[in-house]
Amino acid sequence: MKFFLDTANFEEIHEANSLGILDGITTNPTLIAKEGKPFKETIIAICNEVNGPVSCEVIATDCAGMLKQGRDYATWHKNIVVKLPTTREGVKACKTLTGEGTKTNLTLCFTPNQALIVAKAGATYVSPFIGRLDDISEDGMQVIKDIVQIYKNYGYTTQVLAASLRHPMHVVKAALAGAHVGTLPAKVLDQMFKHPLTDKGLETFLSDWKKANTAGS
Ligand code: G3P
Repeated sequence: MKFFLDTANFEEIHEANSLGILDGITTNPTLIAKEGKPFKETIIAICNEVNGPVSCEVIATDCAGMLKQGRDYATWHKNIVVKLPTTREGVKACKTLTGEGTKTNLTLCFTPNQALIVAKAGATYVSPFIGRLDDISEDGMQVIKDIVQIYKNYGYTTQVLAASLRHPMHVVKAALAGAHVGTLPAKVLDQMFKHPLTDKGLETFLSDWKKANTAGS
């Protein structure tokens, strides 16, 4: 499973990158706005920092506008993936950008039918939002499972990017379902490391080592 970090925050990006297990970044307008820095500058800085795909979302809602923005973004850096909404206009723009060799990530996907359309348009990634479905009493993980199965049935190459992950078990279940990528908030990545028995066991090993090395001295 590839790990992307879902953030535009540099402290979080540096920290995750230092682990050596970071495969890419996803951003959205909300995450960029939170950092309060100019959009283009932020995206290019992220691309220079992380050796992997960086999703950068269009703001236009019509195909022509999306194409204009997407083509511009694609010139900023080789790591750019143009993020488009899963709408009719987004799908048209996806088809065209894919034909031009630009990578795309179709976001705000909530159903297997939307994901099927996205795969047919040749998207590089589809982003089903698990947490937001759970928020409205639907089963986000079932949508991931269904999409993975449908893509397998037909050999679609679009990668399932599990998004809106809110806690570590979302990651485990998305991985079990076969999602190709999980985009993690920094907090979830941090939670994934933790187990009290790891801490307790390490503490015991260190104190036993000290005892063994001071015995008889
Ligand atoms: O990757 C999409 C993500 O940014 C949405 O997450 O927690 O706002 O639903 P959330």
